[in-house]
Amino acid sequence: MEVLDYDIVVLGSGIAGLSAAIHASRIIGPRCRIAVISKLHLMRSHSVAAEGGVSGVLYPEMHNDSYDLHCYDTAKGSDYLGDQDAIEMLVNNAPKEIRFFEHIGVPWSREPDKRILFRAFGGMSVKRTAFAADKTGFFLMRALYDTMLKSENVDGFHEHFVTDLLLHKNCFAGLLSIDLATGSTKLFRAGACIIATGGYSRMYPFTTTSHSATGDGTALALRAGLPLKDMEFVQFHPTALVPSGILITEAARGEGGYLRNAKGERFMDRYAKSVMELAPRDIVSKAIITEIKKGRGIDDEGAGMKYVHLDLRHLGAEKIDERLPMIREMTIKMLGLDPVEEQIPVRPAAHFTMGGIHTDVNGSVISSTLSGTVNGLWAAGECACVSVHGSNRLGSNSLSQCAVWGRVTGTASARHTRISVAKDITVKMGEDAEERINSIRDSDGANDPYELKERLYNVMGEHLYVYRDRRGMTSALAAIRRIKEMYKDIRVSDKGNVFNTNLRDALEIKNMVELAEVVAKCALNRRESRGAHARTDYKKRDDKHWLKHTIAKSVKGDIAISYGPVTITRWHPKARTY
Ligand code: FUM
Repeated sequence: MEVLDYDIVVLGSGIAGLSAAIHASRIIGPRCRIAVISKLHLMRSHSVAAEGGVSGVLYPEMHNDSYDLHCYDTAKGSDYLGDQDAIEMLVNNAPKEIRFFEHIGVPWSREPDKRILFRAFGGMSVKRTAFAADKTGFFLMRALYDTMLKSENVDGFHEHFVTDLLLHKNCFAGLLSIDLATGSTKLFRAGACIIATGGYSRMYPFTTTSHSATGDGTALALRAGLPLKDMEFVQFHPTALVPSGILITEAARGEGGYLRNAKGERFMDRYAKSVMELAPRDIVSKAIITEIKKGRGIDDEGAGMKYVHLDLRHLGAEKIDERLPMIREMTIKMLGLDPVEEQIPVRPAAHFTMGGIHTDVNGSVISSTLSGTVNGLWAAGECACVSVHGSNRLGSNSLSQCAVWGRVTGTASARHTRISVAKDITVKMGEDAEERINSIRDSDGANDPYELKERLYNVMGEHLYVYRDRRGMTSALAAIRRIKEMYKDIRVSDKGNVFNTNLRDALEIKNMVELAEVVAKCALNRRESRGAHARTDYKKRDDKHWLKHTIAKSVKGDIAISYGPVTITRWHPKARTY
């Protein structure tokens, strides 16, 4: 095991991770060193797939907008579960991040007078989403990665899979990783760590996310005994391409696209008459599934699933080519379908996970005792539940969240008085962890991890999708626990060292199974419908009993659940109508 010493380690290289590293690097000074670690090439993080844009109030007079209105939309969109101090922090800081991206070279789409152009997004009262055509994530990542490369005190570690988060007496000590290229283990010791590993939507069979979205950092925190928050809230994006699940950006509706059922009706007038296709995602996804359940979906056996249509034909080729070029390119490539002439088959897919590592408003990770925070540990971006989005995120608030808390946690980690856990203690913890990895690599049991993943997909897709009920979730929880048991007897067939993707996949599957148990248990426990958690047996939001965050921890192999208060500042819960 090689031991590497750093001042700060950033785990994950998406928009949150790279932002954190860049801002920390500017503060910390040239003699201090930062490591950015990713299981992928740093530039291939899932953020690269973001399409629609970044929210923020930049020109309030021009759009009749205000910070208060952005806060209100976000709180209402969250079905009042978002913490409003965090929402205010997001809204107050998002414009600065949009300008920062401009300064590092993001080619924003522009007004004729060269100001940044904004587009409409679901649940946002006015146009407040800045964008770069429909490739916003790619352009942000390219600019951030270039900036990181210019930072002389930052080292990038591509294709290093982190298996263990090492804590000692409520202090961050280090991360143990496998260098996938060689199979060797590396222990990163540091006085500060920012986890920015993204979400866990890949535990679903139909998802817009890349295969890497396996919730690794969240699972590391769970195994380290740290609390997770609001894990039952999984966002289903209404318009994933059928049958692949590739994201068809909400911007397609922001630019004027319609949703139509099998009868050709614009059915959203039954569910959100005042905003139609631009209702928040939870409402649009429920509407689509209701249409399908009522027999008004399109039943095309070849696709393997029922769906509805996204109709862009009336936008015309010129607008589609200017605002949605990748959507056109993708539907032509994937289905031989030109949206200028034909409708696009779409269905809701797992897209974003509102739940994650329990942090305070500054991104500091809450300790295992739930009293105070872990010294030297932060989480940022989708893996962190701050909570800004509550039970339902508004589209385009995630990229601003990543940027805002990337900067906040990067700055905090650089200013923090770093305490290094003694080397011998950290090395001993690393060696113990290394033994556990070796035993997984050597495992020769009866169960194929890929088969376990298929089982997990079936359970999640069937019982924890857009609509849920007690019966389904009870059977899901039992099935996930069986899968967890079966994992104890898995087989890793590849015993090699060089790019052992079999071992990496087995470790990712372990992470997903462990998190799925938390999702199922928290969902079963929450006996109400709120935002993305829609129960057919408890149809209404119940503020009297359930206006509270779910906190879940691993305790002696089981998941212990408690609840915590929601911060309400100015926007008090009321009926959520659109
Ligand atoms: O539809 C989209 O472009 C997704 C945006 C988001 O999740 O914020």
